[in-house]
Amino acid sequence: MADLTRRSVLKTLGATVVAGATAGAVVDPAGAAAGAVADPAVAGAAPRPDLTRPTSDPALDARLARLLRRMTVDEKLGQLQQSLGNSADAAAAARAGLLGGVLGLDAAAAINALQRVAVEESRLGIPLLFGFDVIHGFLTTFPIPLAQAASFDPEVAATDAAVAAREAGSAGLRWTFAPMIDVSHEPRWGRVAEGYGEDPYLASAFAVAKTRGYQGGDYSAPDRLAACAKHYVAYGGVEGGRDYNTVDVSEQRLRNLYLPPFRAAVRAGAATLMAAFNTINGVPAHGNRHTLTDVLRGEWGFDGFVVSDYTGVAELITHGAAADGADAARLALTAGVDMEMVSTEFVTHGKRLLAEGRLSMRRLDDAVLRILRVKARAGLFDRPYVDESREITAPAPADRAAARRIAARCMVLLKNTGALLPLSTGVGSIAVVGPLGDNAPDLAGTWAAKGARLFPPVTILEGIRATAPAARVTYAAGCAVTGTDESGIPAAVAAARAADVTVVAVGESADLTGEGGSRSDIGLPGVQATLVSAIAATGRPFVVVLVNGRPLTLAGVDAAAPAILEAWHPGVEGGNAVADVLFGAVNPGGRLPASFPRDVGQVPIYYNHENTGRPADPNNRDTSKYLDLPDGPLYPFGYGLSYTTFAISDLAVRPARIAVARLRAGAQVEVGVRVRNTGPRAGDEVVQLYLRHRAASVVQPVRRLRGFRRVTLDPGQQIAITFRLAADDVGFYGNSGTGELLVEPGVIDIFVGGSSTADLTQSLVLT
Ligand code: NOJ
Repeated sequence: MADLTRRSVLKTLGATVVAGATAGAVVDPAGAAAGAVADPAVAGAAPRPDLTRPTSDPALDARLARLLRRMTVDEKLGQLQQSLGNSADAAAAARAGLLGGVLGLDAAAAINALQRVAVEESRLGIPLLFGFDVIHGFLTTFPIPLAQAASFDPEVAATDAAVAAREAGSAGLRWTFAPMIDVSHEPRWGRVAEGYGEDPYLASAFAVAKTRGYQGGDYSAPDRLAACAKHYVAYGGVEGGRDYNTVDVSEQRLRNLYLPPFRAAVRAGAATLMAAFNTINGVPAHGNRHTLTDVLRGEWGFDGFVVSDYTGVAELITHGAAADGADAARLALTAGVDMEMVSTEFVTHGKRLLAEGRLSMRRLDDAVLRILRVKARAGLFDRPYVDESREITAPAPADRAAARRIAARCMVLLKNTGALLPLSTGVGSIAVVGPLGDNAPDLAGTWAAKGARLFPPVTILEGIRATAPAARVTYAAGCAVTGTDESGIPAAVAAARAADVTVVAVGESADLTGEGGSRSDIGLPGVQATLVSAIAATGRPFVVVLVNGRPLTLAGVDAAAPAILEAWHPGVEGGNAVADVLFGAVNPGGRLPASFPRDVGQVPIYYNHENTGRPADPNNRDTSKYLDLPDGPLYPFGYGLSYTTFAISDLAVRPARIAVARLRAGAQVEVGVRVRNTGPRAGDEVVQLYLRHRAASVVQPVRRLRGFRRVTLDPGQQIAITFRLAADDVGFYGNSGTGELLVEPGVIDIFVGGSSTADLTQSLVLT
């Protein structure tokens, strides 16, 4: 960062230096009286973590403290405000020094124009931080995050993030509202499309990869973005899968299921976090001091800032947690929200709260300092403007190639009776039917950004035509994604009858997924299931290609279709990638990152469940199951087929017995297996390692993922794989609320295989 005392660069450089001052000692003349007021949420309570304890960069903080000392209370509160960039008053607020961040602008000229107002026309010239929802691509649209999780290859997320950061950075953006790392057991919740599935270990691996992909080693680089891990926390637990709904969660589940990806993202250096819309045990996440301060700052030492979600601070009133706007601002700020998105309670009421002693100057300074710290780390004090002549305006061919490779890598082969797939490119005729067969916009997925508008995805029809140019390819939609109109089905049936093979592309439009996209019925919407049945009734060979953003209930499709490929919302190269897999240029190797229920009535159904005292037994009525359904999901977590086959063998646990104390001191247990491609073609296996504690002070899931490796093997090729288990892997959290990792003596069964139903097992004894 530039020396903030150098006049030549920015107006911020005029600061008077008070040697030795620290952030905690900063006093604003206008608010000096409030500077000593104890935070009401802290006063009288048990000792709380010190919010202003030294950070990892005291030299930076000392420089920022000089700037902070020059700021009026209004200017400090202004830093806490994030507004829509295209709103009429954004420029006026920037000029008055009453704006800290902006969302919604996505072009270099517009961003520079507003930045110029902040830097050149405001009193202190503090640059704005421009953020945007760059979630699965900016110009180059990658598959949705849930699809990326199916790759079981975190490099996929790292590549998406790096490409997106380069593109978005060239447009002047410095901050993305991603990664979204809400673990969820709720397929009815539309936002499962944005996250990495039902498992905290898998989600943590993707959280780290995506954070690093956006930020690199230093997010001041023009081709990097500051990350924002969201939504903090437990949003994936919304009751009934209804978006924004209540979450009531035990401390142990909070810590074992929802918090791990956030801890991983913070450890990976995530610059910011976003608070979640839900309540957590009766306290909204935006006003939750336990999660925002005790855990995030106290336990994890997070020194970035927390932004509210869109109007999330004002919504504290609607929740019934705050009496009015001032109360909402007090609650959110004292709990640990630093920046307010869109609603304006902080700027409107902050001064009054200080005057009334309901907010301490110390906490306000802390919030401002955190925001300035991220701005400094984003390089904004050195380079507030972006070079408009270097704005990237179209996906680079190499990035489109990466999007194609990745989309195919995310696909999951769910069924392939009689090796119907891969198809031969020499096939004479192909009918493409279904409402998603020649549909571009929906392939882009829920958070498609600018790129989806400007560069619509390749459709499945186009991909098939390009891949099998000699084949006669016809298309008939048959029906729409939603609605009851079946009048197009006969034409689709006729097309199927006239073709050697039919590809039925069905699923969800993008708007049935994502934020506000909750569904009570997670089957194929509209009359698409009728279309599938009608095609099946022809007796001709067909493949179902699913284009969707959540686990679906597919029992009918599974019964009717000989082959099913899960393609998700695959992004800009979606149609080409589907064709790559259908015709075997790519052997599918993705695995499900979430269980696919048989019926929505089973939800929540997830692999990492507790055993209960009466686990399901089909021959015993009084066990944990439904009378009207077989036990378990239709397709389990970690499941996926290949055009080849694999054998996993020789499981060895070394040592098979180890003292807890040794693990705590850093020792590791090695788990080795051999994997062999036993089939006719090269392909990918995802070797997965699961643990099961036979007995623990807090009942542990029947299985929990603690290792995975995606490998590519030629026919007959065999390799050895070694996983390493540390204290972190065999430990878990209890209900104490202290964050202490419990590592208990006892027997742990280790399972390794190609899905969560792996049965190759050995035990490990902890003494
Ligand atoms: C609301 C969403 O919950 C959040 O994920 C998103 O980043 C913001 N809106 C900004 O668009």
